[in-house]
Amino acid sequence: MYARAVAAVTTALLGTAALLVPGSDAKAGSPATVTHAPAGAVTARPLVIGHRGASAQAPENTLAAIDRAARLGVSWVENDVQRTRDGELVVIHDDSLVRTTNVKDVFPHRAPWKVKDFTAAEIARLDAGSWFAPRFAGTRVPTLTQYMRRVEHNHQKLLLEIKNPELYPGIEQQILKVLGDEGWLDRQHLAGRLIVQSFGADSLRIVHGLAPAVRTAFLGAPHVADLPAYAGFSDGINPSHGSVSRGYVAAVHSVAGPHGRPLAVFAWTVDDADTARQVARYGVDGVISDKPDVVRTALRTTAPQTP
Ligand code: G3P
Ligand code: CA
Repeated sequence: MYARAVAAVTTALLGTAALLVPGSDAKAGSPATVTHAPAGAVTARPLVIGHRGASAQAPENTLAAIDRAARLGVSWVENDVQRTRDGELVVIHDDSLVRTTNVKDVFPHRAPWKVKDFTAAEIARLDAGSWFAPRFAGTRVPTLTQYMRRVEHNHQKLLLEIKNPELYPGIEQQILKVLGDEGWLDRQHLAGRLIVQSFGADSLRIVHGLAPAVRTAFLGAPHVADLPAYAGFSDGINPSHGSVSRGYVAAVHSVAGPHGRPLAVFAWTVDDADTARQVARYGVDGVISDKPDVVRTALRTTAPQTP
C-alpha cells in the first residue's frame, strides 16, 4: 500500500516539478530572502531562525512553539519531519517519542517507542507539552499538514529539516506532496519562505531532482574541497557554530549553488549573545537559535561588519 502511495505522489510531483526548473524562479536567491556577503561588502545582519520554533519558551516542534515565535516577531522557524507507521508526516525531532511525549505512560509495552512504529492516531493521543511545562499539557505532536497551515496562518517562513531520512524511504516525495498541496511550491513561497535542509546529502539530491526550484541546505561542514560537489544540489551549508570560522564562511560564499547564487551559511544552535555576535562577524547569513529573541537583540546592538 505504501509503495502505491509513493508512486501516486511521484506522479503528482512530476507535474509540479516540471514547472519548477532551475532559473525559472528569478527571485529564488534575491537578497530579500537570503542575505549573502559579496566579497568586501558590508554584510546585512543575518536572518534569525527559531530552532524547533521558539523552543526555549514552548515545547519544541509544536504549534505552540511557532505561535510563540510569531508573538516574538520571529518570522523564520525550523522544524524536523519524520513519518509514522501508517505513512503520516509528523513534526518531531527524536526518532523516539520518549523525551518529548508521555508515550511510556500511554503505551507502556511498546518499547523502544520509535516514531516509525506508531500510527498517526496513536501519536495524536500523546501529550507533547507536559514534559516542558505543566501549562502546555495537552499540546500535540503536529502533523506536517497541521504545521504548514499554522506557519501559513502566522505568515511565517520555514526551514524544514528532513530528519533521519535513511529511516523513511520516499519521505522526500511525500514532503513535497504536502508542500504542494498546501500551496508552498508556488513562486512566492519558493522565492522567500521555504528552505529544505537535511544531514542527508542523498535526501537533498532527491529533493533537488524532484523539485529543482526548492532551495535546499546541507547540515554539516563539508571540507572546502568538496563544496563544489554539494553546490550541485544544495543552496546552502548549515554548520554547527563550533565549525564556523571567517575563512570557512568565505570559502562557502565563494561557491555558487544550483540557482547561481553564492552558497549561504546558517549556523546552529546559537543561544547566547556573544556567540551570535561572533558568527555574525564571521559573515554567516543566518543564525538558528532556541532563543531567537536573545539573538535578535544581540545582533541589533552589533554594527554589521565586513567579513
Ligand atoms: O537547524 C539545525 C539543527 O536543527 C540541526 O540539528 O539535531 O537540532 O536537528 P538538530
Ligand atoms: Ca533540526
